[in-house]
Amino acid sequence: MTKDEDQQIWTLLRELEQIAIREHLPSIGPIEGKIILEIMKKHKATTVLEIGTLHGYSAILMANSLSTDGKLITVEIDKNRAYAARKNIDKAGLSNKIKVICDNALDVIPTLDGYKFDLVFLDAAKSEYLQYLILIEARNLMKEDSVVIADNVILYENKMKDYLEYVRDSGRYISQTTETTSTFNKNVKDALEISIRSKNKFCYNVIRKVDCFMNTKDKVKLEKLIKIPLDYSYIMLFLTANKMRRLP
Ligand SMILES: C[S@@+](CC[C@H](N)C(=O)[O-])C[C@H]1O[C@@H](n2cnc3c(N)ncnc32)[C@H](O)[C@@H]1O
Repeated sequence: MTKDEDQQIWTLLRELEQIAIREHLPSIGPIEGKIILEIMKKHKATTVLEIGTLHGYSAILMANSLSTDGKLITVEIDKNRAYAARKNIDKAGLSNKIKVICDNALDVIPTLDGYKFDLVFLDAAKSEYLQYLILIEARNLMKEDSVVIADNVILYENKMKDYLEYVRDSGRYISQTTETTSTFNKNVKDALEISIRSKNKFCYNVIRKVDCFMNTKDKVKLEKLIKIPLDYSYIMLFLTANKMRRLP
């Protein structure tokens, strides 16, 4: 992609941000966008699944950072929104990288065969987040160390308690909450839940043990513990970000 093409995409994204503010569209904004792009870069994401397209802002933002062979699938239930998204994606010149599927994600996910997504972005019906994730897991659509990002976990916490409990406490993910603000009101707190699939089975038990050791600040025991084949950086990320909640 040339510098000019990239510039055109950023101009379009700025336009979509203004439209979202004007029309009160529940699109992510530049703050969440920056966090998501950093995670994509860190995890070298090349295949992305997005649930909830709206007018295509987040899809365009993410696809623009993918390598030439990268792919983003985005699912939108509303025909008009899917149409608007396709138009914007076309305008961005990203139709080759983004596939918009217009249907209910609960019906679409079970049909997505053969994909292994590096990153999943959940941003559709807030009370359905857990159902999306369970379907994605059941279809084996993620890699061992894929990342799942869920939007609006403070604003709509009540609607997704089951989801948050699952990613935080099931042991299948190492999950952290990254605070942001509402796109429309900087005084309203919101957050992204960033959940990395646990790379190995011992993770949960180790985290439980680390929890005990952290209380006594027994750094020597902690160092010994993390010598087992676990991803050190994930454990440390989890500890610092979540301040180690007590696990059941
Ligand atoms: C918050 S908006 C998505 C914003 C978009 N990710 C962005 O940041 O630009 C949520 C979208 O999810 C769609 N949606 C809601 N339930 C859905 C479902 N079950 N399947 C697919 N899309 C759904 C809504 O129509 C809406 O356009």
